[in-house]
Amino acid sequence: MNLSAATPEATEASFAGTMTAKLKEQFDAGLLSGQELRPDFTIAQPVHRYTETDHAIWRKLYDRQASMLQGRVCDEFLQGLVTLGMERDRVPEFDQLNEMLMRATGWQIVAVPGLVPDEVFFEHLANRRFPASWWMRKPEQLDYLQEPDCFHDVFGHVPLLINPVFADYMEAYGKGGLKAARLGALDMLARLYWYTVEFGLIRTPQGLRIFGAGIVSSQGESIYSLDSASPNRIGFDLKRIMRTRYRIDTFQKTYFVIDSFEQLFDATGPDFTPLYPELAALPTLGAGDIVAGDQVIHAGNREGWADSDDI
Ligand code: PHE
Ligand code: FE
Repeated sequence: MNLSAATPEATEASFAGTMTAKLKEQFDAGLLSGQELRPDFTIAQPVHRYTETDHAIWRKLYDRQASMLQGRVCDEFLQGLVTLGMERDRVPEFDQLNEMLMRATGWQIVAVPGLVPDEVFFEHLANRRFPASWWMRKPEQLDYLQEPDCFHDVFGHVPLLINPVFADYMEAYGKGGLKAARLGALDMLARLYWYTVEFGLIRTPQGLRIFGAGIVSSQGESIYSLDSASPNRIGFDLKRIMRTRYRIDTFQKTYFVIDSFEQLFDATGPDFTPLYPELAALPTLGAGDIVAGDQVIHAGNREGWADSDDI
């Protein structure tokens, strides 16, 4: 995708094509007046704009999750936090994290005002750039917010990017996204992202551990995903996941469990081109369904499940 021609009007046009009015509104809210939006939808991280409240929220969430995650998150994640030297006291400066990250796996964090159009996002990932919202959630949003803020994006997503295998998976995902967009298969590929990068669990000799960023940045789901009897926990199965709808408004009804990042990388290596029409011919599965062939680690008791439609 050639982004070099993006002008303010082109920006509007691509938003109109790929983003809802709500997302556009949120994106605009993250763009400070007079600030330059680059053609690839990035901005310079406005580090001078963070308030003491922003830093305090970062510190509070960091402390809460760092202690909560001991014995719950995979070792690779904790290792990432340490290796990156991720700041506890203040919202990190992306440039500083980038020095370590660049050296470790060649990844970089780039600042964005909010969610960017799909193809822009994929283009960044394909080039080992992770777009992170620069702004911090408000004090009343400590436990829940719908759109990704800086804590979710940086604390949740960045530590694993120093893991070489996961780093390669994310790049491959970006490339796969550009391809899926051409093939009209984004809904299927989005499910894979959701159930791995955002809400994935991993099996370790010590037991199940979290690796998905959506869990890692949430106090409630860090406990629920591992300890609750309510959700299903099912072994990773690529085709099955790409047919499975999900929730964006509640904790997940199902978590998929990988055995290793190598398994994830290897299973997603083959060309998906023939897979998409094959899967599109099958019905989608509900977020809480258990079907023949599932490797069921835990069958959820369905307590508290929302009965509105899954996405
Ligand atoms: N192998 C996938 C394809 O050909 C690309 C991909 C890799 C997608 C990793 C997701 C994750 O489309
Ligand atoms: Fe995320």
